[in-house]
Amino acid sequence: MINVEKEFVGKMFSLNGKVAIVTGATGALGSAVAAGYGFSGAKVVLTARNKEKLAAFAEELKKAGVECACFAADPANEDDVKAIVKFATDTYGKVDILGACHGFNAPKNIIEQSAAEWKAIMDADCTSVYLLAKYVAEQMVKQGHGGKMVITSSARSKMGMAGYTGYCTAKGGVDLMVQSLACDLTTKYGINVNSINPTVFRSDLTEWMFDKDSAVYQNFLKRLPIGRLGEPSDFVGLAVFLASPASDFLTGGNYDATGGYWAC
Ligand SMILES: NC(=O)c1ccc[n+]([C@@H]2O[C@H](COP(=O)([O-])OP(=O)(O)OC[C@H]3O[C@@H](n4cnc5c(N)ncnc54)[C@H](OP(=O)(O)O)[C@@H]3O)[C@@H](O)[C@H]2O)c1
Repeated sequence: MINVEKEFVGKMFSLNGKVAIVTGATGALGSAVAAGYGFSGAKVVLTARNKEKLAAFAEELKKAGVECACFAADPANEDDVKAIVKFATDTYGKVDILGACHGFNAPKNIIEQSAAEWKAIMDADCTSVYLLAKYVAEQMVKQGHGGKMVITSSARSKMGMAGYTGYCTAKGGVDLMVQSLACDLTTKYGINVNSINPTVFRSDLTEWMFDKDSAVYQNFLKRLPIGRLGEPSDFVGLAVFLASPASDFLTGGNYDATGGYWAC
């Protein structure tokens, strides 16, 4: 007996009619996610702090056929986050999906790191996620038909590393925040919250690690069953899946995008 509807399967990865906010939209992963959501049918609100870079990316995406608008803001600033949500609702009438793809790291041994540097990492990578989740959830609750939050964490959320006291702690906080948010928001409001936890993906900052002859690359390969580091396009499938009806049963999950790094 067939117990799955053909119509459901046919549309399960579609984001048609949805409105998505994507933070860090000018970054390697954010730009891939924004394109992925847009090409899957969503209208996309792009945000990042650098206005010029953001406007240039928005133009590129529009030319490729995506309905999108951009709003420059800092996700660690509470007023900015409120303004992002207001811009999205003023522009497209609602918010259905949050794709949080912003973030940064400034690795330093704790002995050399100042408390101010630690706080900057915590604000950028952890407090920002709280603020976005809070104000996007408030809007989704007002709308009354649930939503999806897809938060970019890191493989480093569950593993320490020298110089990463701030980053690992912030991302570990994100993973637990996602679990707690699922408890707060899913049963009551139909908002599913999950994270994607990537290992090294190609970006301006990680490009140097992709030198196949380097010791860094070769060391990675030793515990990377997939046999290579990640490309931004590798990130899109999971990001679209977690924003789409195909993942309606999933919430509070920290999803492995490590090419097997977590398995070894
Ligand atoms: N690429 C990887 O290997 C990798 C691995 C694990 C986890 N991640 C995580 O994936 C997310 C995206 O990484 P990515 O590789 O796409 O980075 P990326 O290419 O460097 O892009 C970062 C994005 O976030 C914004 N951003 C930078 N610093 C920020 C700050 N202090 N506060 C708020 N926004 C900031 C940038 O735009 P503006 O500067 O204009 O705001 C940009 O849009 C981050 O959370 C990162 O921690 C990446």
